[in-house]
Formats: sequence, structure tokens, C-alpha cells
Amino acid sequence: MTAPTAGGLLDVEQFAARVLGRPLWPHQLEVARSPARYRVVCAGRQVGKSVLLAVLALHAAATRRNVTVLIVSAGEDAAKRLLADVAGLATGSAALSGSVLDETKSALTLSNGSTIRSVPASERAIRGWPVDLLIVDEAGFVSDEIWRSAEPAIIARPGSRVIATSSPWGGPDAWFRSLWRRGMDRPDEQVAAWHWPSTVSPLVDAALLEEIRQREPADYFTREYLAEWGDAAGAYFTEDELTGAAAGYELRDPGTVPVHGRALWPMVGGVDWGQAVDANALVTLSVLDPADALDMRWRLYVPWLEAQHRAPWSSWIDRLVEVSGRFGMRVLASERNGVGAYPTEDLEDRLHRERVRTRVAPVWTDARRKQAGFGKLRTLLQGDRLVLPRHPELLKQLRALEFEQLPAGGVRIAVPERAGHDDLAMALMQAMSCVQTGRLRDALGASGAPSWRPDRDVVTTGRGAAVPRRPVPMQSSRWMDLPAGEAAGDGW
Ligand SMILES: Nc1ncnc2c1ncn2[C@@H]1O[C@H](COP(=O)(O)OP(=O)(O)OP(=O)(O)O)[C@@H](O)[C@H]1O
Ligand SMILES: [Mg+2]
Repeated sequence: MTAPTAGGLLDVEQFAARVLGRPLWPHQLEVARSPARYRVVCAGRQVGKSVLLAVLALHAAATRRNVTVLIVSAGEDAAKRLLADVAGLATGSAALSGSVLDETKSALTLSNGSTIRSVPASERAIRGWPVDLLIVDEAGFVSDEIWRSAEPAIIARPGSRVIATSSPWGGPDAWFRSLWRRGMDRPDEQVAAWHWPSTVSPLVDAALLEEIRQREPADYFTREYLAEWGDAAGAYFTEDELTGAAAGYELRDPGTVPVHGRALWPMVGGVDWGQAVDANALVTLSVLDPADALDMRWRLYVPWLEAQHRAPWSSWIDRLVEVSGRFGMRVLASERNGVGAYPTEDLEDRLHRERVRTRVAPVWTDARRKQAGFGKLRTLLQGDRLVLPRHPELLKQLRALEFEQLPAGGVRIAVPERAGHDDLAMALMQAMSCVQTGRLRDALGASGAPSWRPDRDVVTTGRGAAVPRRPVPMQSSRWMDLPAGEAAGDGW
């Protein structure tokens, strides 16, 4: 069918409201009405991207005969889902009820001869169709190669147009990002751009957003909800984050802990098993008593860490059993993929035989786990909740940690080979997985005063937090946890 009005084609606002029964929100309307040939939207989650794209696809197809609309999505599922949204809107409309979805669910044909085709972004799928409206969904994930092969198909067609939406993803030179930048800086009849953080949706409430912000790693929230571009690659921690958290307190050598003093050291640890060049490493975490802090805030700190170079696993396991026994370590997170599978089992066995009551939490490290773990570390650093020792090798490794956004989504976090080892950084990340910061509370102090004496021997972090030179951990294990998601890739 064709939906005419007395004066010509039905405008998109009326089409959405009257034909589809789905009036557009103001921010959607602004994009829908823009005359620019390229419309580019950088958007957060749940802001109405899919609804807008579905409405625009149907509007283009229904108001003219024999039009081709091509929807390109980053993946097969996404392509099918978006076309299902389109078909859903069409079915709900009496005027479009003659539309037919083909059995592969990849094309919707209207009774006026127009077609809406939805394909995953692969070169073969999109080359060569003359297209009147090209819709690119999650455009940040569509590679430059694919874009270059899709674009000529539309510019050859008079009056043809492009709309691209995505969460912010891709390096500064990637096509979506540079087109969006161009549209934001110099909008004209060729290119126009919009920025939709999740707050533009009338359905997204501030309280929910705040809850998500607290729960998710900062970079994830910034990207997915604020719709702001992070860098595509670079140093994972900033120099400020690291020097701000470092203080010259004394590490506590387990050899100096009285054997019967176990209960004094509520502590969790993370183990990294070295391969060829890497060392075996252990990093531990405890909590500084908030009642001892001038500002009464809890902070995690690293009471002890060590690495063993080029030592056989058997001697490293001996060492871990000894250290765990000395401190009365509660939990040791140990990687069970890669080289860690066998030694993790062995460690568990040895602890059991020596009657050391440390729980071994075998963990599976993959890209998502690293992203979650290092994200949590960064959140704690930014919030002034973690104190690091001035340990040159640990700080060097954390400085060398780099991230890179991957074209397929996800982030790779690693110390590049040229920059050396990552064993201590990884062990710290593993230890962090045994901590439930949600269970920690700042001290309220009945008297309102810290149990602090001005003569106490303290050192300060780069951000000015005072830490005892010889810190003693808080006598509580409430904050400890077995890492969630011992199965592959689960969250924390
Ligand atoms: N104009 C509108 N009127 C009423 N509800 C709408 C409108 N646009 C979107 N919605 C609703 O808002 C929610 C999010 O919409 P939509 O799925 O289009 O967002 P999205 O940005 O594609 O989300 P995601 O980031 O999850 O892909 C859905 O429940 C949808 O029905
Ligand atoms: Mg969507």
C-alpha cells in the first residue's frame, strides 16, 4: 500500500502516530524529521534506537512504491531482531497488514512492492543492492571495509539516504565516529548528528541509572549509558589513579607473623601461575579499619605480595601453603585455565593435607572477567577505596596495563609483551574477585572521633589519605567472598 495524504506523502510524525499507532518521542522526531542525507546518532542503551529505525524503515517503504530499505546490523541475531521489530509494528497496523515476512525472516515485503531487507554486516551480504534508505544499526561495530562496500550502493541512487545509530564504539578514525564528529561539529544538509545519553528516554529513571552506575565498571557505564566515547586504546589506569593510591607503608612479611597469630590477619589472595617468562605471583588484600582512618572510611590495601621467578610449581605451592598458614588466609583465587589447571588442584590438595584452612577458589580468566576485575579495581582507585604499596614492580605492571577495544565488541586488557610482566597485576585482579565491597561500611564512630592518635606513625597516599606505616587489618571477614562466576566468564 501507499499511505498518501491530501497534500502528498504522509509526514513521519503522522505516519508513526496514525498508521503505526506509535507516536515518536521528541528526540526521535528530531532525527526522523531531519533532511540531512546522513543522519548519525551516538546513543546509550534503551533510548528508542530500534523503535526509531523500525518506524523510519516502514515510513520509507510504505510511502513510496518499489523502495528498497536495507538494514545492516553488526550480527545475524541483531539483524533478525530488528526486522522482527519492524514486522511487529507493521502487523499491528491495519494499513500495513498485507506485508509479508519471508521464511528466512530477513525480508519484509509490503503490498506496494517495497522491501525492507535486514542483513548482518558482511561484505557479501550488502554489496550490490541499489538502496533507497540504508540503516546501519550498532554502526560502531561495522568495520570500515564493510562500510566502504555498502556506501556506494546508496550514493548512486538519487534521493537515497543513510541513518546510522550506535553506542560509542571505535577509534577516532573509524567511519562511524568520524561521521558522527563531522555531523556534531559542522551539521549541514549532508550530515547531521545527535547525542542521546540514556537519560533522553522518558522511561529511564535516574534512580535505576544510579544503581547501574554503582554496579558496573566506570568505562562500561560511560559508554553504554552516558554514550560518551572512551579512548579506543591506551593505558588502562591513569598515572593519577595509581600515584594517588600509592603510599609508602610497610608490607607485612609473613615470616614476622607469629604462627598462632592467624586470626589477626583477615586476608584474601590471588595467585597467578607463571608460564615461560612470567613469574609465579601472589597478591593479598585486607581492609584497613575505618575506625583508624582520619576520615573514617574503609579502604582495601595490599598487606603482602611476592613473586617467584623461574621456580618450579612445586616449590611455589610449598611457599603458598606456608604463607597461607602464617596469615590464616581465608580464600585464594587461583586461575584454573591455561597453565593453572593442574597446579590449582595440587595447591588445594596440599593445603588440605597440611590442615591449612584456606579455601581455594578456582577461577576461569577470560576477557570479560579481566574487564570486570580491572574495572572494579579502577572504580576503587577512583573512589579512594584502595591503597597500594609503593612497590616498584607492582606499580610498573599496573602502569603498563593497556586496553584495546575489539572490533567484535569487548575489550582486551593486557600488558603488551614489550613492556614486560603482568603476573602481579593479574594476581591483584584475582584477589579483588574475593572482595565484596558492598558489605563494607564506613565507621560512624559512637563518639564521632577516630581511634586515632596524632602521635601515630602514618604515611599518606598521593591523594592525602593517612595510612599507618605498619597497617593492621580490620578484624572482620564480612567482606570476603568466594568469587562469583567460577564458571567461565560469569560476572562478579
Ligand atoms: N516512541 C516511543 N513511545 C513509547 N515507547 C517507546 C518509544 N520508543 C521506544 N519505546 C520503548 O522504549 C524501550 C526502548 O526502546 P528501544 O528498544 O527502541 O531502545 P534501544 O535504544 O534500541 O535499546 P537497546 O539499547 O536495548 O537496543 C522499549 O520498551 C520501547 O518499547
Ligand atoms: Mg535496540
